[in-house]
Amino acid sequence: MSSLTHSKAWSALKTHFQYIQNESMREIFRKDPDRFKKFSLRLDDIIFDYSKNRIHEETIALLVDLAESQGLRQKIEAMFTGKIINITEHRAVLHTALRNRSNTPVYVDGKDVMPDINRVLAQMRAFCAAVRAGDWKGYSGRAITDIVSIGIGGSGLGPKMVSAALSPYGSDRLKVHYVSNVDQTNLVEVLKPLSAETTLFVIASKVFNTQETMMNARSARNWLTERSGSEAAIPKHFVAISTHAENVARFGIDTENMFEFWDWVGGRYSLWSAVGLSTALSIGMDHFEELLQGAYEADLHFRHTPFDRNIPVIMALLGVWYNNFFGADSHAVIPYDQSMRYFADYLQQGDMESNGKSVDLDGNRVDYSTGPIIWGQPGTNGQHAFFQLIHQGTKLIPCDFMAAANSHYPLPEHHDILISNFLAQPEALMNGLTEEEVKARLSPEEREDRVLVASKVFDGNKPSNAFLYKKMTPRTLGSLIAFYEHKIFTQGVIWHINSFDQMGVELGKVLAKAILPELKNDRIITSHDSSTNGLINAYKQYKER
Ligand code: F6P
Repeated sequence: MSSLTHSKAWSALKTHFQYIQNESMREIFRKDPDRFKKFSLRLDDIIFDYSKNRIHEETIALLVDLAESQGLRQKIEAMFTGKIINITEHRAVLHTALRNRSNTPVYVDGKDVMPDINRVLAQMRAFCAAVRAGDWKGYSGRAITDIVSIGIGGSGLGPKMVSAALSPYGSDRLKVHYVSNVDQTNLVEVLKPLSAETTLFVIASKVFNTQETMMNARSARNWLTERSGSEAAIPKHFVAISTHAENVARFGIDTENMFEFWDWVGGRYSLWSAVGLSTALSIGMDHFEELLQGAYEADLHFRHTPFDRNIPVIMALLGVWYNNFFGADSHAVIPYDQSMRYFADYLQQGDMESNGKSVDLDGNRVDYSTGPIIWGQPGTNGQHAFFQLIHQGTKLIPCDFMAAANSHYPLPEHHDILISNFLAQPEALMNGLTEEEVKARLSPEEREDRVLVASKVFDGNKPSNAFLYKKMTPRTLGSLIAFYEHKIFTQGVIWHINSFDQMGVELGKVLAKAILPELKNDRIITSHDSSTNGLINAYKQYKER
């Protein structure tokens, strides 16, 4: 048994769970009219309501004990102060320094990283101003109208999500497009309506040798040079974002046109770095810095607020409660906010690449469940797709709901309908509908139909959190994203795992590299298992030459 599941704090939670597992939230709410007041928190105008959870104050106290006993306090300080907490890659984890708006020094190996961060922010600002004002011209002298950002995983999902969430702040003159998949459909369809004369490619890759990104970047370069007639166009149409200057130069992008970041920024935590350039080009550098400001405020809150009033810590503790004690395997994220349509996609990498681990920090296999499956899509669409299972299926799926009190757009009737659904779903999940209540809504004949009655009963008691904010602003978004990052960190600390490497993605990459040459020859392939051989050979037969 691991020290975690053996700990006093864990045992106390197990005992507490026995007593709480059959309690009804509906009853708890009935008995305690102050529950919202007790179990909701605020940062600026962001309200975090966690009252619709299967908890009492004692539950939170016991979960906080667990976090303390796993050393959360010290680990938070270790992260913020640049200690080498990514122990397998021997790296500090300092995305928080990227948004350190106080500008106080942050040291890695004795060197203050803030001057470098500020230098790249200034470089981004000058570049954004030139492109947005139309002063940065393409090879034919025309101003840039379209940005094509090429990057995958952390170098794609974050900026794509933020650009969509903040699209009301986006430039009318500049359109931003995202390409990540090596499937040519992605690049070809994005480029189809664009003109090479007015398109700028932003190639984002931490290592600058990621197979998909390099393939897409090469095809983009060919597209440009075929249309411009010369390689001389490249410096006006390609910029790079990377930690790796040699690979950028080898690809053929002048390092003058490179925006640097550093190996202490994890890919999935990099949207705050120059990886956010495509977003900054779209929304402008002032708004990008407001995004950083929002994250910075969430960082201060996380670092300095007692755990029982600390939004990301509470989010993490509730996740552990359901994951490890109720046996919930997944967690749904459902923004009632169309602009947040890529938020669940983004969090899938953020959470699942971070905490999808089965070995602990001492190299032992864990004997408890770690990171949950993260999924979701915007409400109200999700209601007409998967909500049935959340309401009446056999699985417990804790949900996070979020919504803005005000839309950026001018159709008020839509917004009230949206918000009534945002409020009704968590209420329905929590309250359910009893047999008596079902019967009261039916005609006398229908009441006799046992199957009909049973099918209409909702067990309820399904937990959820809700975020409500005034408007989706850069600052609000910055805080929300940072809350989730710190939630992931806190859970990693409790599970005693390294949330900052991603060894699990390597094997598939290596095998794909071995298979690639086998697809290009005419031989029958026998070097794999019979399934892989069979599929390779069928592909070669099908492939039109
Ligand atoms: O394959 C996983 C991964 O390494 C992610 O962690 C990373 O965000 C993504 O690939 C892209 O990597 P890069 O930015 O180096 O191209």
